[in-house]
Amino acid sequence: MSESTRVHGSIFFLLKKFIDRSLPKGSWEKLNESAGNGSMQFDITSNYDISHINNFLQAAAELTGSTSGELMEKFGEELVPDLMSIYSSYLKPEWKTYDVLLYTESVMHGTVRRLNSTANPPVLNVTKTGDDVLMIDYFSKRRMSALALGIIRGIAKFYNESDKINIIPLSDPNDERVQIRVEFGLK
Ligand code: HEM
Repeated sequence: MSESTRVHGSIFFLLKKFIDRSLPKGSWEKLNESAGNGSMQFDITSNYDISHINNFLQAAAELTGSTSGELMEKFGEELVPDLMSIYSSYLKPEWKTYDVLLYTESVMHGTVRRLNSTANPPVLNVTKTGDDVLMIDYFSKRRMSALALGIIRGIAKFYNESDKINIIPLSDPNDERVQIRVEFGLK
């Protein structure tokens, strides 16, 4: 299977945390069974094909009545506090949502790639298109832009700026390349 469709074990670990928090005990095991993942043990020093996440979310969607896109987005939102804490030493104290998004590629994802040979975060080209607007150009064969939307929402929540920003996806969320416009209306 292609390396570019593999997802780092830490994301599976965080997905388990999200499911353990949101659904009744035992759901993680049951959903992995129905997804055809068996009793998969995810190791955070390894990576696994995206199909395990897609099949898992499909099974969770059938159970919960939410779509797998909605679940992926919610997961993205909720994994932010953990991501921010794991990589806190790379975040500047004065940064807020705008800065974290602006520097995600050069600082955060760059650091992840440098420190962790089994992780391969997506390329995010972030450009300022005005004083209060960032354009995020997501590109990944894993087609996880719903996670990106959730992470952006989660970062805004983390900095108590949810009511200040407007997140507008400009492409089909299932595409490999998705542009996301983030407006900082009340900044
Ligand atoms: C504190 C900042 C961030 C950190 C530390 C971080 C870290 C990571 C890590 C460790 C992965 C797993 C890589 C792999 O599976 O090999 C990942 C994946 C991902 N990140 Fe980030 N990230 C950050 C911010 C962001 C932001 C702001 C976005 C979106 C705008 C984003 C979008 C994604 C997506 C969608 C994936 C899933 C893999 C894919 O789509 O190809 N991340 N990130």
